Amino acid sequence: MGQFRCYWQKVLKCVCSTCICLVLLFVFLGIMVCSSMNKATLQAPINSAQSHHFLASGSFQSKKFASLPKTFWRLHEGSFWNQLQAAIDRYFNPILNPQNSITALKNKDIYESVLKLSFLEATNLDSMRRKFEQLPQQMQDFVSHMNQRNYPVILHPTNATCGAGAATEKEPPLLLLAIKSTELNFKNREAIRQTWGQVGWVATRRKNSSRKQEIGGYIRRVFLIGKENPQDSGGDVSELLRTEGQNYGDIVQWNFSDTFFNLTLKDVLFWKWFSRHCSQTRFVFKGDDDVFVNMPNMMTYLLEQLEKPHAEHTINEFMVGDVIGGALPNRVNQSKYFVPESFYSGLYPTYAGGGGVLYSGQMAKNLQEISGRVHLFPIDDVFVGMCMARLNINPIHHPGFLTFDFPDNENEKPCAYHMILLVHKRSPMQLIELWDKVSKTQKECWHVPLRVSDK
Ligand SMILES: *[C@@H]1O[C@H](CO)[C@@H](O)[C@H](O)[C@H]1NC(C)=O
Ligand SMILES: *[C@@H]1O[C@H](CO)[C@@H](O)[C@H](O)[C@H]1NC(C)=O
Ligand SMILES: *[C@@H]1O[C@H](CO)[C@@H](O)[C@H](O)[C@H]1NC(C)=O
Ligand SMILES: *[C@@H]1O[C@H](CO)[C@@H](O)[C@H](O)[C@H]1NC(C)=O
Ligand SMILES: *[C@@H]1O[C@H](CO)[C@@H](O)[C@H](O)[C@H]1NC(C)=O
Repeated sequence: MGQFRCYWQKVLKCVCSTCICLVLLFVFLGIMVCSSMNKATLQAPINSAQSHHFLASGSFQSKKFASLPKTFWRLHEGSFWNQLQAAIDRYFNPILNPQNSITALKNKDIYESVLKLSFLEATNLDSMRRKFEQLPQQMQDFVSHMNQRNYPVILHPTNATCGAGAATEKEPPLLLLAIKSTELNFKNREAIRQTWGQVGWVATRRKNSSRKQEIGGYIRRVFLIGKENPQDSGGDVSELLRTEGQNYGDIVQWNFSDTFFNLTLKDVLFWKWFSRHCSQTRFVFKGDDDVFVNMPNMMTYLLEQLEKPHAEHTINEFMVGDVIGGALPNRVNQSKYFVPESFYSGLYPTYAGGGGVLYSGQMAKNLQEISGRVHLFPIDDVFVGMCMARLNINPIHHPGFLTFDFPDNENEKPCAYHMILLVHKRSPMQLIELWDKVSKTQKECWHVPLRVSDK
């Protein structure tokens, strides 16, 4: 009998200790999972103080806000986009649905069907239909087409090369300039081609003193263009654009209408095109056609990134620009950036302003992949930020990116344009004048450093 009890005690001990171990393991796993899920969402806003919130896009608002959501992707049942995206995030949640993530790793085509399906399911709900009807006209137009992102290419560089500049290269390109333009902005493109957007070998500001050799890299250029509505443009310019593309080999055009809310398509279609044609390119500059770029500075900056320790790893997750953290959607209904609460609620994720941003070629490929799991969002740079958050990668802020122009009268300093990487916004005439001025003052401004802090 005693032996029997002893036996059962042993069994009990055995079972209990296993149970306790399992419980502890689950608690541990739970904590790990929670902390990893929160990692992406607890990033400290970079440009924002508690009482000073950036209002996307263009102005600061310094009113105190009562309660701000801590994360941007918490489920906000009330809003159209949030609800759509919640279904996708749930579907690919590695804990709730581990099998889905594994299947998706093997077969990327699944993303497209999941996006489509989640959209159809959600828009079939009466509550979503009512929300849709309340949206402003332009937003409704966006929503009606947000399930479509495979627009055909109309024009692309001859011989399917990665933009203009291939002919002279002796090594893979260091940088591809991918510039958002429109059919009608011919003058902007010409000014860029003659100034900061020249292709071929570009030297940096540093010289290799040991061998009297210039350091630099090869640059390529491509303009990303949609389709103008012939009624708005006062005529069909597609023939002119075709000729321009043949002459310069730097036009990629897709057949979607070139509106503000369609700019996000330029990101996703560009990433797809890039992944196919530009796999060798180290870095991408993506920006507007009304920015001035100090290209020698940018090349110096890029080469410095490559010289950093562990660059081969860090470059894979590299994005730098004018980083905006804790931004609120713009709720002023006359604004071009207007996004009503019924469409999106919560803060925007940390994102780099779309006037000009630099990222690695590998990053472009990462973005291309993850973008298949994010519903299109009408503001392009915010959409990129949403993709970055899902990759769990933070963009780096650099005060040399002035996407809101110089603060105060800083541009009146003699070497102001030598202290920056980029400034927005400048007309084609100004670009040419500035380029000339910057080239002429190269010697006297040789030693000025890049801007290091924001005002
Ligand atoms: C395209 O390829 C053809 C034949 O390979 C060549 O003759 C032509 O110069 C190329 N065009 C450009 C713009 O590189
Ligand atoms: C200068 O060039 C030499 C030979 O090409 C190279 O070994 C050296 O690293 C270069 N120096 C810098 C600062 O890039
Ligand atoms: C672009 O798409 C429209 C339909 O949306 C079609 O009518 C037109 O022919 C297409 N244009 C080109 C150049 O493919
Ligand atoms: C985006 O482009 C498509 C295709 O041309 C067009 O039907 C749609 O109206 C555009 N969306 C917006 C919001 O302008
Ligand atoms: C825009 O907002 C104002 C008040 O903020 C309102 O009176 C007006 O009706 C709104 N316009 C539209 C088109 O919703």
